[in-house]
Amino acid sequence: MSEAAASPRKRLFIRSWGCQMNVYDSGRMADVLAPLGYGPAEGPDAADMVILNTCHIREKASEKLFSELGRLRALKREKEAAGGRMVLAVAGCVAQAEGAEITARAPWVDIVLGPQTYHRLPEMVARASRAAGAVIDTDFPAEAKFDRLPEASAAPQGVTAFLTVQEGCDKFCSFCVVPYTRGAEYSRPAAPVLAEARRLVAQGAREITLLGQNVNAYHGDAPGGGRTWGLGRLLRALAEIPGLERLRYTTSHPRDVDDELVAAHRDLPQLMPFLHLPVQSGSDRVLAAMNRGHTAADFLSVAERLRAARPDLALSSDFIVGHPGERAADFDATLALVREVGFALAYSFKYSPRPGTPAASAPNQVPEAEKDARLQALQALLRDQQEAFNRSLVGRTIPVLVTGTGRHHGQVAGRSPWLNPVHLSASDALIGEVVPVAVLAAHTNSLSGALAAGTATEPPSQRREEPAPA
Ligand code: SAH
Ligand code: SF4
Ligand code: F3S
Repeated sequence: MSEAAASPRKRLFIRSWGCQMNVYDSGRMADVLAPLGYGPAEGPDAADMVILNTCHIREKASEKLFSELGRLRALKREKEAAGGRMVLAVAGCVAQAEGAEITARAPWVDIVLGPQTYHRLPEMVARASRAAGAVIDTDFPAEAKFDRLPEASAAPQGVTAFLTVQEGCDKFCSFCVVPYTRGAEYSRPAAPVLAEARRLVAQGAREITLLGQNVNAYHGDAPGGGRTWGLGRLLRALAEIPGLERLRYTTSHPRDVDDELVAAHRDLPQLMPFLHLPVQSGSDRVLAAMNRGHTAADFLSVAERLRAARPDLALSSDFIVGHPGERAADFDATLALVREVGFALAYSFKYSPRPGTPAASAPNQVPEAEKDARLQALQALLRDQQEAFNRSLVGRTIPVLVTGTGRHHGQVAGRSPWLNPVHLSASDALIGEVVPVAVLAAHTNSLSGALAAGTATEPPSQRREEPAPA
């Protein structure tokens, strides 16, 4: 660790919105700024530099940015009046999509940088301290970013860590901004991914979640050359790292679940039996309008293949209600798919038109009231399924990775194989260990349990809802 990193002279505050890739990127931005003497600040008040790492996926996300920028303007003025300074940067997907609007609407912003330029942040900070206007950098190629970010992390991520292996997307779903903000699909070569995973484990990580906007489209250069590796092959290599107890990956696309990946779920005990696999809709008409490239039946068959390989696999998903052209019968097909699959967890959203995407200019927009009603109906069903799944764990002994101290003295918090937060009374000496826990109670979003003797019993298999009426 450099001296500057050991005793920071300047304070950095980063706020992240959006997906886990933004959380990962925020960590890497802190890493590139550490050699410049920046250490973490508790909040914006104490910071010499504030970075807002933004998300553009739905409308409210950019509204939040502008209201936050308003608050920071006042803070920045106060600091300047007192003879100090605060560098204000906007990063992430809103920066990429709306760089010029940001500097026009909020001229007090010093730096606007897109997701592929974080390695150039030190240079931008230097330029911003000389320049009068804002410094904008929203270049694209992802390769340079990964090659040039520092290897060691200034602030280790802890027991559970994220590792970005893939960025960008070439799928162009009708509703989605990601292909425009994150650019073309790019996979990191396997060798630096494996090296980063080993470093994370050396820093205390026991669970690694591989990240990518389309993580299972991964096709990275193989370590010794030759054919590229798919995600299944990469997971196999990662499973050989001693001390790495658990692997996950997110977010996947149903179209890219290949046999090698299914086999990884069958063969690797480290690969957790929980998969986030967004389906968006259960109607083939709407799926076609969304340009998803799969039908409802394709999704069901992917789910079957995965559960055949790993019977205790639980699925999570994303849904959009009220995509342009969605009729009542299409929405019913979504409910039917949910009943048929049975999800342990799911996120559902009202369709939000994003400027520049094909769906935003489609003529047959769904009225807001209709979207609200559909969202409520879908969420009620999904909540019931989530509660039923959590209840199915009560009375079982499951392996829990202890991730940190709990809310109360003598309590620790951990994670089930199915990503449920688990609370139990135990010593914090267990942090970083996988321990058997008897589940005593289930809540909507978490479980509570007690340390059990011996080893965990067989996990439950995912229950299915009663089949949809024909
Ligand atoms: N790559 C992933 C999802 C990325 S965005 C995939 O292919 O599924 C995360 C989620 O946000 C999406 O799954 C979708 O459900 C939701 N989303 C994206 N664009 C949206 C929009 N315009 N309106 C509402 N929800 C949206
Ligand atoms: Fe967006 Fe579709 Fe790409 Fe997912 S697959 S990031 S929803 S365009
Ligand atoms: Fe949001 Fe960009 Fe992630 S739009 S969801 S931060 S890829």
